[in-house]
Amino acid sequence: PIDPKDIKKIILIGCGSAYHSCVTAKYWFEELTNIPIEIDIASEFRYRKIKLNKKNLYVFVSQSGETADTFAALDLCKKNKVKTCSIVNVVESSIARSSDFVLPIHAGPEIGVASTKAFIGQMLVLYILGIKISEVRKEISKLDYEKKINDLKKLPDLIKETLNYCQDYTPIIAKDFLNAKGAMFLGRGLSFPIALEGALKLKELSYLHAEGYAAGEMKHGPLALIEEGLPVVILAPKDRYFEKTISNMQEVIARGGKVILITNENNKIISENVRFTLEIPMTDDHLTPFLMTIPLQLLAYHVASLKNYDIDKPRNLAKSVTVE
Ligand code: G6P
Repeated sequence: PIDPKDIKKIILIGCGSAYHSCVTAKYWFEELTNIPIEIDIASEFRYRKIKLNKKNLYVFVSQSGETADTFAALDLCKKNKVKTCSIVNVVESSIARSSDFVLPIHAGPEIGVASTKAFIGQMLVLYILGIKISEVRKEISKLDYEKKINDLKKLPDLIKETLNYCQDYTPIIAKDFLNAKGAMFLGRGLSFPIALEGALKLKELSYLHAEGYAAGEMKHGPLALIEEGLPVVILAPKDRYFEKTISNMQEVIARGGKVILITNENNKIISENVRFTLEIPMTDDHLTPFLMTIPLQLLAYHVASLKNYDIDKPRNLAKSVTVE
């Protein structure tokens, strides 16, 4: 048994989209608990000279439960007898079988090579794990805990609403990406990992060069890439980073970038230089990543579809990467 009260540090490990769900979880866990959190890409973790510690919890996130690097990283932990937990979609997988305990995401079989519903499912389980650990450690008040659970219960309806709304607009927005040289995704805080995931989805499905950045890193290089007509997706929910992200957006606009702004409804900052604005419903700031992901997955889908690419089976990629 693993008692959350005894955990000294949590290390979250995965590959691809699963890694991005770990990055999101780092932000949640740091806000919800006092436990230091680290994240790692499985192929890096397994080869570094890492000091494993019996007081830490090592969490492995994998849709398939068969990814070679994630399994090898877990195996290293097992051999060193440290505490392990896996978050998988396939419960009868190697990763699930080898970990001390398993949290299944129960998303059902995922057909498309690029992770979509599994990514949302991974985030969901990680978020619940975060609030639960916080509750057991008494780091969240009873009232806040109950509010978080209530907000979570409302999430399925908000996801449906976002899906319906974005389905109408993303095919139109996708047209802007057809002749683009590349695309950029920018966000701060919890929107940063979602920017990474949005760029990954676009690369995987539409073969377009796309990069996600922490919006604050713009000045340290990516700004040089902005030129007339470059599509830039700005993730700016009405959270504590909002003003800062909007000022990054202005820098993009000033250099001719074609801005697609994703923000919350009733958020009237809308500038005439913004090409498109998508307004997602207001919810607990912690839940915004779930809603932000939807337009980005749809965007990648529609760009690939306009290019007549095979959305479920993108070139060169495999659903389950069982070799190094
Ligand atoms: C492949 C898939 C990605 C996935 C990654 C990790 O690259 O195409 O969508 O995120 O593997 O897979 P896992 O099964 O470990 O989540």
